[in-house]
Amino acid sequence: MGDKTTGGSNTLSIRDNRTNKEYEVPILEGDVIRAMDLRKIKVQDGDFGMMTYDPAYTNTASTRSTITFIDGDVGILRYRGYPIEQLAERSSHLETAYLILKGELPTQSELNTFVRDVTYHTYVHENMIKLLDAFRYDAHAMGMLISAVAALATFYPEAGNIQDARNRWIQIIRLVAKMPTLAAFCYRHHRGLPYVYPENEYSYTGNFLNMLFRVGSNYKPSPVLERALDILFILHADHEQNCSTTAMRVIGSSHADPYSALAGSMAALWGPLHGGANEAVLRMLRKIGDVKNIPAFLEKVKNKQELLMGFGHRVYKSYDPRASIIKRTADEVFEVTGRNPLLDIALELERIALSEDYFVTRQLYPNVDFYSGIIYEALGFPVEMFPVLFAIPRTVGWLTQWEELLKDDEQKIARPRQVYLGSAARDFVPMSERK
Ligand code: ACO
Repeated sequence: MGDKTTGGSNTLSIRDNRTNKEYEVPILEGDVIRAMDLRKIKVQDGDFGMMTYDPAYTNTASTRSTITFIDGDVGILRYRGYPIEQLAERSSHLETAYLILKGELPTQSELNTFVRDVTYHTYVHENMIKLLDAFRYDAHAMGMLISAVAALATFYPEAGNIQDARNRWIQIIRLVAKMPTLAAFCYRHHRGLPYVYPENEYSYTGNFLNMLFRVGSNYKPSPVLERALDILFILHADHEQNCSTTAMRVIGSSHADPYSALAGSMAALWGPLHGGANEAVLRMLRKIGDVKNIPAFLEKVKNKQELLMGFGHRVYKSYDPRASIIKRTADEVFEVTGRNPLLDIALELERIALSEDYFVTRQLYPNVDFYSGIIYEALGFPVEMFPVLFAIPRTVGWLTQWEELLKDDEQKIARPRQVYLGSAARDFVPMSERK
């Protein structure tokens, strides 16, 4: 870039009215310009140059990615090009995990190897149990799981060798395999029940349900619930550059090991504005308590005294496609478990909200968290497990995004700029002279 000398269709002309200089910057694929191209816009030599100011990165692409595509205006979500609806209907979580991680659907033998590798890495070191036992009986499952994943880094010090592709793959398999085990142990600790160890004859979600709910020797996971959980896992496996994925990439950019980075992204997920929203939705529905209380609740939302949890999304300005699939899956689950009465409140809340001007003008629609909690509750999970149920499948997305970052020659340690608005330089004031 420089003073304007040439024309061209794929460029952007910028005129700086302070100096009357014109600049031309290339427009790259995706209708983006490089922020660094703005740095040559200066009033005088020696200036730092122009930056963009974008709190919360609402209009900044931090990476080029080939993993997940979202068109939020029309409610499209695809992993590696495959529509989420087709994957939810025809794939399994581990097959989708392979697709996300490797970029292509597996052949039968590739899938067999992947499933076997995951299945044979589900055990955790016995000292992990001592760690989990140290938590209070009522510790939040997500707090326990975040700590447990961070602790895993100390069991696999070689994980820090992040430049070695084979070593990275071993850690990926370990994390995908061990997350359900650790999550189930957190749940059993909360319930005061003995831990149930992984069993290899079950599917990924079947094994998880067994570790969670088996009491005595007669438990057999319901195939309907096993499949419903598998669909929920597929829907949550990746969602491009959201808050927790960005956390994963930022931490990963310092070359931290994947366990530490994943613990950080889980912490980001836990917040009620992100993956913690499914828990918040359930608490909100319970608080509303009855369909007749909905109008009064929505008045509070419109007066900004409450948030309608599970509504709204930074990217989706139409119905979240995952919410539609979850709504359909709920019916199948309720045939086995019985209908969750909170569903009536949710359906009525959605019906009224979607016809109210406040929500229509702001393009606020149900997101993935609006209905997922209702299914989780019907499956027998306490609310504290909801963000955990999000973190297990999202592990696949986080790790894929982390690998993509490490293989991307353009990426460096993440380090945004700031616009400093604080005091100018001033001399230290001794205590006796302070007012
Ligand atoms: N209830 C009521 N009003 C809302 C809601 C909501 N759930 N969401 C957004 N709004 C309003 C805002 O107050 C704002 O109104 P204004 O124009 O009068 O100021 C307008 O809609 C735009 O909202 P923003 O906050 O600017 O949207 P943003 O993209 O920053 O936030 C977010 C997105 C955080 C998801 C927001 O919609 C929200 O807080 N939703 C509730 C929490 C939730 O469900 N989170 C889960 C998201 S999905 C996921 O992370 C897995």
